[in-house]
Amino acid sequence: MTKQFDVVVIGGGPGGYIAAIRAAQLGFNVACIDEWKNAKGGPALGGTCTNVGCIPSKALLQSSEHFEHAGHGFADHGIKVSGLELDIAKMLARKDQVVKQNNDGITYLFKKNKITSFHGRGSFVKAAEGGYEIKVAGAAEETIVGKHIIVATGSNARALPGAAFDEENILSNDGALRIGAVPKKLALIGSGVIGLEMGSVWRRLGSEVTVLEALPTFLGAVDEQIAKEAKKAFDKQGLKIELGVKVGEIKSGKKGVSIAWTNAKGEAQVLDVDKLIVSIGRVPNTIGLAADAVGLALDERGAITVDGDCKTNLPNVWAIGDVVRGPMLAHKAEEEGVAVAERIAGQHGHVNFNTIPWVIYTHPEIAWVGQTEQQLKAEGRAYKAGTFPFLANGRARALGDTTGMVKFLADAATDEILGVHMVGPQVSELISEAVVAMEFKASAEDIARICHAHPSLSEATKEAALAVDKRTLNF
Ligand code: FAD
Ligand code: NAI
Repeated sequence: MTKQFDVVVIGGGPGGYIAAIRAAQLGFNVACIDEWKNAKGGPALGGTCTNVGCIPSKALLQSSEHFEHAGHGFADHGIKVSGLELDIAKMLARKDQVVKQNNDGITYLFKKNKITSFHGRGSFVKAAEGGYEIKVAGAAEETIVGKHIIVATGSNARALPGAAFDEENILSNDGALRIGAVPKKLALIGSGVIGLEMGSVWRRLGSEVTVLEALPTFLGAVDEQIAKEAKKAFDKQGLKIELGVKVGEIKSGKKGVSIAWTNAKGEAQVLDVDKLIVSIGRVPNTIGLAADAVGLALDERGAITVDGDCKTNLPNVWAIGDVVRGPMLAHKAEEEGVAVAERIAGQHGHVNFNTIPWVIYTHPEIAWVGQTEQQLKAEGRAYKAGTFPFLANGRARALGDTTGMVKFLADAATDEILGVHMVGPQVSELISEAVVAMEFKASAEDIARICHAHPSLSEATKEAALAVDKRTLNF
């Protein structure tokens, strides 16, 4: 007999698995279909984020930062290190172990919440009595029916025309996370989030890294002042970033990759490297979903068309995460997953797109929420700005990590916080205070009047809020 479910989720990444858990919490009979295969061909729940994205990249960022500290940072603290060696195989194995812990964690959560897990590809067959028929093609093939369908099929790396990923020489995020020996020379095309994070990993481990970026501005979506500060730090580290370039022919062979490119002055250049990582954005993934079979509408980018509530053009079919509009972030996908499950239950799930934080896990880290100064200027909105440098923060000095600043932007008349931008140590953690403040429509003065522990990096947040009113205490 065909198995029937209240909710069938297609895709077990952060959008899909969280949607499945929330739907199960709300009392629905839930199935989740995911096709990701681990090295042994078995299931590996967690999608791009867990397998080849957020989690493994952060594991390698941590390991490579330890290596850099041991090599260059400890001496200042009076710690001498000799005979420092890199065991790249062990580093990669640790990263794989961290991934597996996360895969296993989701499997456990599915069991705990009585979610039926299918390993294989899910595709639409037709609208049917009681919902939609979905084919699951895995080790065996079967058809199930879901009253509500949540599509969470994620995204794939975008390839450069004429330079298909071979994951040997020309790498996507997948290959970039499992290079078996430190390349002497490494190029990255695209100085976005992956370009900077992966470029940092391999530079710290000893590669000579060049990043080729088409746009003339560095990190255009980031507040200009923060981006400028970050660029200074990356330049100092020796991460070579070329802006305003045009990439030409790419040749891949036994000796590596040769990239023809034109610099911002229009001069022709050739870059020969051992490996090339292409990080020029990601494309929504609907491969194998058979959207046509039920008339599920896609937009011109290939993303599933949804309204603000993640409803598609079909009744009871929803879509969330990277496969729909909006930032391609794991926490955005998760919030949409929770909201959709709650809407299915007749509740009023809500995602506030104005308070989704961004973090780039380089060193220094970059984090922000809300509007940038250039956006406020373009809107003609009257605002006040306040900044505070980590150089004047006692904890940052004790850490020996004083690069960067915290910056507040607040409405000129009401003092409501409109954006908070940070570059510096551990700002990935500091940004959540700003997110909470903005969710509660706090003013800069609200943060300025709150007691922050001393000595802590969070005092820089308080001081930047004080700076909006030109009354910092420590600078
Ligand atoms: P995905 O995570 O892509 O999951 C989709 C799942 O659906 C996959 O398992 C896929 O196999 C499966 N699937 C697809 N089609 C089918 C089908 N027809 N049938 C069955 N299964 C199917 N975001 C952050 O917020 N923080 C970070 O630090 C961060 N770091 C990143 C680092 C890298 C290198 C990359 C590439 C991305 C990073 N991201 C980060 C982005 C983040 O990974 C994505 O935004 C997030 O994974 C999107 O979640 P999702 O559930 O929409 O899709
Ligand atoms: P991205 O959108 O962040 O950056 C792509 C960069 O490539 C842009 O600067 C763009 O101008 C440039 N580019 C595009 N075409 C080019 C060309 N032909 N030549 C040279 N440069 C070109 O995309 P990226 O880095 O691939 O990451 C994809 C997404 O994954 C991110 O946007 C983000 O949503 C997510 N992600 C999030 C992370 C985080 O939250 N810390 C970490 C890594 C990825």
